[in-house]
Amino acid sequence: MTVPVPKAELHLHIEGTLEPEAALACAARNGVELPFASADALRAAYSFTDLASFLDLYYALMAVLRTERDFTELADAYLARAAAQGVRHAEIFFDPQAHLARGVALATVLDGLGAALAAAPARHGITTRLIMCFLRDRPAAEALEVFEAARPWFGTLVTGVGLDSAEVGNPPAPFAEVFGRARDAGLRRVAHAGEEGPPAYVREVLDVLGAERVDHGIRSLEDPELVARLVRERVPLTVCPLSNVRLRCVPDLAAHPLPRMLDAGLLVTVNSDDPSYFGGYIEDNYAALGLDDETSRLLAANSFRAAFLPEDERAAHL
Ligand code: HPA
Ligand code: ZN
Repeated sequence: MTVPVPKAELHLHIEGTLEPEAALACAARNGVELPFASADALRAAYSFTDLASFLDLYYALMAVLRTERDFTELADAYLARAAAQGVRHAEIFFDPQAHLARGVALATVLDGLGAALAAAPARHGITTRLIMCFLRDRPAAEALEVFEAARPWFGTLVTGVGLDSAEVGNPPAPFAEVFGRARDAGLRRVAHAGEEGPPAYVREVLDVLGAERVDHGIRSLEDPELVARLVRERVPLTVCPLSNVRLRCVPDLAAHPLPRMLDAGLLVTVNSDDPSYFGGYIEDNYAALGLDDETSRLLAANSFRAAFLPEDERAAHL
């Protein structure tokens, strides 16, 4: 097997790395009943028609994650797989509201994830950042509450905020206040936009939320003026090809817009999104596109250019 190119992963939901076997083991340990008898039965349910059909299963399966240990093991398992696929730096999303809503405390989630991330450089050769995402289909007031509750971890463990969940019909603007507070607290800012939603949402996350990177952003191509702006301002887009096909944002890999995005001069990166659910980790996403070596190296370099790393660390990767 060829050695995977060293790269950064910038669009990865840690809850989306929950493999069927791990979910069943976790369920048994915590006495959580799941309506799936085996890992194969669970895998068979991983067939989606759109983002909403995926999110239903993604949130339901989180029921098995209850203890600090569960979150540590989840993150450690991801980091081990990521290291094997060439990841040297990972900026990891988590969804605090999805856990708080189930009665799991923020400290359980953060201390659990934090233990795995603290061990990652020595154990897996990976540096990390942790990005707290707000659910755009929940009230903005709830995002403000969780933001304030997470302050003790700002700057040490939590270094950025994001916006995810059901996009269509949930424009970014109501989250302007919480993103403003994040900027004032010195946190980095990213947001999902232009996955299923229109190019107008991509403009909105830039103009209203001050997003520094756009997660997905594939629908930007429908708006040439927006593309010109993204190119001019060097706004990175974290594209997830297998996710786009599995959620039917794109009909198949042959039709994936990534080559057109590169041709347009966009700062594109390739990432895995929710690898357990979408059939592959980051190198599988690179491989699925059938890229030549030069393009793979360009995408890997872009991943470090787009990472929230200090310049000396970035330079060491390039
Ligand atoms: N889009 C929006 N929300 C998400 C995703 C996604 O691809 N994955 C996990 N939450
Ligand atoms: Zn995502």
